[in-house]
Amino acid sequence: MISSKLLKESLLVNISEDEIVSRLAQISNTFNIDRAKIEKMYSEPKNISSYTYFYLPTNMYKMRYLFDHLNQNVIERISNTSVIDIGCGPGTYVFALIEILKNEAMNFFGVDQNKFMLEQARKIHESHYSNFNISWSKELPVTKDDKTLVFGNSINEMGADQALKIIKKLDPKIVICIEPGTKSTFSEIKKLRDALIKDDLRPIFPCPSSSSCPMRNDNWCHQTIRVSLDKDIERLGQKIKKDRTKMPAIVHVYCRDVEDTHKKRVIRLEKKAKHAFIWNTCESAIEENKFMRIEVLKKPLSKSWQKSVEKLSSGFSIEYEVQKELGENSRKVVLTQVEDEEIS
Ligand SMILES: C[S@@+](CC[C@H](N)C(=O)[O-])C[C@H]1O[C@@H](n2cnc3c(N)ncnc32)[C@H](O)[C@@H]1O
Repeated sequence: MISSKLLKESLLVNISEDEIVSRLAQISNTFNIDRAKIEKMYSEPKNISSYTYFYLPTNMYKMRYLFDHLNQNVIERISNTSVIDIGCGPGTYVFALIEILKNEAMNFFGVDQNKFMLEQARKIHESHYSNFNISWSKELPVTKDDKTLVFGNSINEMGADQALKIIKKLDPKIVICIEPGTKSTFSEIKKLRDALIKDDLRPIFPCPSSSSCPMRNDNWCHQTIRVSLDKDIERLGQKIKKDRTKMPAIVHVYCRDVEDTHKKRVIRLEKKAKHAFIWNTCESAIEENKFMRIEVLKKPLSKSWQKSVEKLSSGFSIEYEVQKELGENSRKVVLTQVEDEEIS
């Protein structure tokens, strides 16, 4: 992923780290509390540079995390499409996909309603990714290619209805959503999920199947993304008291012409107990998938498996044997498989 040193050279305007720190505090406040002021916040180039310096690299890692969990067939399908990043901001997920796929034959389109965000994206493109074919525009592109649409932290601003209109218009083969992990964004994504399934776009991550989502209105799917960051960015995160090594997020992928996987997926590690890892999982079932709370016993696992299991976060598929039913949707289990690897 791009280093903070390189990024600093291509910010829209020159800005000191102290000013970035104080602006990031305001930006975070606007995102979390004062959302009516988001557009006004984006109208200042210094805020665009501050956003870019901190959020672009940390968000890029979320895409890397997702690709570590996607099946190779899906990655190949994405590589054979044109990618359109809706609400691309400074180009975050276009650049992330360029870094991950390293495919100079692909076409990328970044779409954003904000002219400073597009200027910032162009500047990074020219400075560091000039070999890649990227068009930046306020308008949706017209292309006959198969498409992957990416929404990165933009559905929470435009809403599910607007996102759905764009999806219907562009008719993509694949849709990737990487959005903030909040209850209100989850309810938008759930609405979008229902509409996409009706339109034959199936959820392939993290949902185990296209059956209904089991989350009730008072609950939501707490995915957590754990990543290692560039030291400079980790230090900046500490200064503004934002730990971006463990990020709540809502990461969904939808695909046309695929079958449901019917896997059991880890949603999050709820807590570590002495005898077990307590996980929330989502498990395939007819009509409505099942939200489960499982106690994964440590004792049957070797030391090295215990270590790797401890690191698992959202999206891993697992299999297990039930040791004891503890109540409705709660069980004690022995882990037998993680992704495609069997635990002996
Ligand atoms: C939080 S930023 C995310 C930028 C980038 N995708 C990322 O994740 O770092 C949200 C972006 O969505 C853009 N946006 C919001 N609503 C939009 C719309 N209806 N059409 C195009 N862009 C939109 C904003 O201008 C802003 O640049």
